[in-house]
Amino acid sequence: MEFYDIDPKELDLQPLDIFATDWALLTAGTEDSWNTMTIGWGGLGTLWSQPMATVYVRPDRHTHGFMEESDRFTISFFGEDDREKLNFCGAHSGRDTDKTACGLQPMEVDDGAIAFEDAELIISCRKVYRSDFEPGKFLDASILASRYPGETPLHTAYWGIVEHVYVAESILDDEDECGCGDDDCGCEHHHHHDEA
Ligand SMILES: Cc1cc2nc3c(=O)[nH]c(=O)nc-3n(C[C@H](O)[C@H](O)[C@H](O)COP(=O)(O)O)c2cc1C
Repeated sequence: MEFYDIDPKELDLQPLDIFATDWALLTAGTEDSWNTMTIGWGGLGTLWSQPMATVYVRPDRHTHGFMEESDRFTISFFGEDDREKLNFCGAHSGRDTDKTACGLQPMEVDDGAIAFEDAELIISCRKVYRSDFEPGKFLDASILASRYPGETPLHTAYWGIVEHVYVAESILDDEDECGCGDDDCGCEHHHHHDEA
């Protein structure tokens, strides 16, 4: 799959719908040791005048340790045909399962961070802040009670500056490409990956 490295400010999606409806894979680690899991919660916006992504990971997820250790994380969105992969990665833990068993094809992006060849959209982030949710800070106690019954651990939130957005060629409109056919033409949609 070929990807175009677009300006994050050109990212054209519905931030209040895409996580909830499409879900995504959150991935941290490097080629030698990485893990991914399905996420249905996330945010895209602006913080400290930077394009920023926020994700929420429960400490009992195998991915949590990778998020703690990694300087980078990626958020990969897929087409509807790949829904089974998201079901798989949301129902099995990397502790005892190889997540590539569902057919995912990992690839390296920035600084060795891992994302997937089969994705349609990849948001590549540099981790800049983390915070553990705390029971005493909930302003609506019903959210705490309904989302964290019993001993359910509270999520850790991570913020990452969106440094790169990769869009698969297959989902770009023709009009989004400069159309010159030259990989080195210098247009903003220059090619990123073409090995697969
Ligand atoms: C649709 C869907 C959305 C999910 N969203 C989140 C999420 O935002 N945060 C989270 O901590 N877990 C979420 N999960 C749960 C993890 O994906 C699941 O526990 C996974 O097996 C963890 O894998 P790991 O142990 O390899 O990290 C979601 C699961 C599904 C199916």
